[in-house]
Amino acid sequence: MVNFQAKDIISMNDLSKDEIDYILDKAGEIGHNPNRSRLLEGKVLASLFFEPSTRTRTSFEKAMRNLSGRVEGFADPKITSVVKRESLWDTIRIYDGYGYDVFVIRHPLKGAARLAAEAAQAPVINAGDGPNQHPTQTLLDLYTIRETQGTIDNISIAMVGDLENGRTVHSLTEALVKYEGCRLFFISSRDLAMPGHLIDKCRERAERGGFHFQELTHLDQVIDQVDIVYMTRIQRERFEGREHLYEKVKSIYRLDMSALQKVKTTMKVLHPLPRVDEISIEVDKTPYAYYFEQASNGLRVREALLALVTGVIQ
Ligand code: CP
Repeated sequence: MVNFQAKDIISMNDLSKDEIDYILDKAGEIGHNPNRSRLLEGKVLASLFFEPSTRTRTSFEKAMRNLSGRVEGFADPKITSVVKRESLWDTIRIYDGYGYDVFVIRHPLKGAARLAAEAAQAPVINAGDGPNQHPTQTLLDLYTIRETQGTIDNISIAMVGDLENGRTVHSLTEALVKYEGCRLFFISSRDLAMPGHLIDKCRERAERGGFHFQELTHLDQVIDQVDIVYMTRIQRERFEGREHLYEKVKSIYRLDMSALQKVKTTMKVLHPLPRVDEISIEVDKTPYAYYFEQASNGLRVREALLALVTGVIQ
C-alpha cells in the first residue's frame, strides 16, 4: 500500500509509476465511497492562487466542498500583503500558523510550490508553478488517457504548440517516461521547443528501450499514428519582452476538421484548456474531442488527492 498522508505533490518527478497508478485508481474509486460526502469534514484547505485560474482553482475548491471540507484563501494576490512585498515564504508561514490541513498553491515562479512546501508543515499541492510543472493536471490527463485508451503504457501521443512554456506538457512528459512502450511526438516551432533537460530525460529513457520520442514541426507528419493529440495554448503571459515572438508564433498550430481526415477512430483530442484558437469550434462536435470530459475528470482526481494527502483515505 502507498501512503500519501502529509505528502507534498510538487512535481511528477517525485512520484513513482506505482504511486501515479495508485492515485488514478483512487480517483476512479472515490465516487463509489459510501462516506465520500463527509470524508473531509473538519478539514480546511488554504487555496492560494497568485495567478489566474478557472479549472484548477474551481475544481480543487469544489472537490474540497464535495467532501464536506472548507476552503479559505485567495484567488487574487492583489488583495493580500503580497502587494506590500511580503515574501512567499512569510505568506506561507503565516497561513501555516493558522492551522490549515492542506495547501493548494499556484504561482508564476518556477520553484514556488517547492519553497512553499519547505515553509509549511501541512502538505502542499502544486497547482502550477510558472512554466515548470502542473502535476495535478497531469494526473487528470493520465486518468483521461487511461479512460479513453484503456492503458497508459504503449500509447502514442503528439504534444502540440508551446512546448517551451507549457507546464502541462512538461509534467506529462515527466510522467510518461515512467511507462513502457510510449511514443511521444513533440510538435512545435523551433522557438517553442521542449526544454533541453526534458529532451535529455527522453533520450536517456529511449536508450533503456521501450520508449520513443521525436521532435517535429508538423502535426500532419504523425496525426494518423497517434492515440492522443494533446493541443496547448501559446502562453502569451510568458512572452514578456518577447512580444514580437508571440505575434510570430501565436497562430501556427490550429486543429480543424481538415486535420482529422485520417486519424485513428479511437484517437482523442485533449487540451488542458483554456483554448484560444488552437482548436476550431467545429472539432467540439466530433467523436475525437474529449477536452471537456478531461476537465471534468479533474474533480475526481482532486477529490482523491485531497483525501489522500490529508490521510482520510489510504
Ligand atoms: N488547465 C488549467 O490549469 O486551467 P486553469 O488555468 O483555468 O486552472
